[in-house]
Amino acid sequence: MVKKLTQLYENYASSNKLFKMFSTLYYAPMVKKEICLGAVNRHSNVLFIGGGPLPMSALLLKRFTGAQVSIVDCNLNAITKAKNVIQESGVYIQVIHAYGQDVEVKDYDTIIVAKQVVSQDVVFKHLINKANPKTKIILRHRLQTHSLREWLSQATYQDIDVYASSN
Ligand SMILES: C[S@@+](CC[C@H](N)C(=O)[O-])C[C@H]1O[C@@H](n2cnc3c(N)ncnc32)[C@H](O)[C@@H]1O
Repeated sequence: MVKKLTQLYENYASSNKLFKMFSTLYYAPMVKKEICLGAVNRHSNVLFIGGGPLPMSALLLKRFTGAQVSIVDCNLNAITKAKNVIQESGVYIQVIHAYGQDVEVKDYDTIIVAKQVVSQDVVFKHLINKANPKTKIILRHRLQTHSLREWLSQATYQDIDVYASSN
């Protein structure tokens, strides 16, 4: 239900200036924390899984750090809208149409997985298996899978969970 509402909101907000501003206010504090957690800087290569039609997190990551940023989304409508929003913003962000559980991940320093991604635990297993061991993986929201949560014993940062396999 919340996932559907977020999707509806973002579809609308992607073409509305005022809603874009609200979204910036909502996402900015979270993105700043993630920049610290992922040690993201202008030399970093960052992947955001579940970018959505209004890829505000990716835009803020780019704006705050100058890092190379890519987003992945499995929904073609979200991809089309995201490309428009990114083009309007005047920055370069690569947009990939794929499922987070299938996408190529070996070249990224930091990978962030959106809260609304289905199924986060499957995507996480893909990242653990295929990403570089030094890649920092940041999962928004708490995982439902009990064993996986135990496995992720190291970290909680408010409602952001981090697993940095290099630690
Ligand atoms: C509503 S957005 C949230 C992200 C938000 N726009 C941001 O900037 O932080 C969530 C997106 O995740 C996408 N998504 C859900 N599951 C996915 C998966 N397994 N792989 C790729 N994208 C996924 C949905 O299509 C949706 O567009």
